[in-house]
Amino acid sequence: MKLIVKTKTYQDVEKTIKAVIDAKSHPVSNMANFSAILHSEFKHHWIGFYLVDSMKNQLYLGPFQGPLACTHIPFGKGVCGSSWENKQTYIVDDVHKFPGHIACSSLTNSEIVVPLIKNDKVVGVLDIDSTEFGKFDHIDQTYLEKLCEYLCFNSF
Ligand code: SME
Repeated sequence: MKLIVKTKTYQDVEKTIKAVIDAKSHPVSNMANFSAILHSEFKHHWIGFYLVDSMKNQLYLGPFQGPLACTHIPFGKGVCGSSWENKQTYIVDDVHKFPGHIACSSLTNSEIVVPLIKNDKVVGVLDIDSTEFGKFDHIDQTYLEKLCEYLCFNSF
């Protein structure tokens, strides 16, 4: 996808998300629609949420679009667990080279994981997987962080 097309697509996605997601809806409903909106625009292999279970110190699978996925990810494990531990976005061009990567789907070759941060605490992560290597860049990071901030503000 050309950079200008990607930026325009994110601008459209942002408008739709702001029209659909609000504080009156349940967080699960907001995350479900968030995944559906991004999936329908970008058609990535997998997009969804993992949410923090602080009692068990692990992430559990939340709303998503795509093939079935792992249900639990321990703190600090894989890309999602690392994003949670380090409170930062990860762009992984080749997941096979990422130490401890959790392969839910053998078709995934690259991914981006964005932490959902509320009051300085990670409450979950957004995970997007692609069958293409090196699919995600700083444009994805900028827009997805902004969209996740909006989602968190309205959901948690
Ligand atoms: N790849 C992730 C696991 C989640 S699935 O890809 C949906 C990871 O290593 O954290």
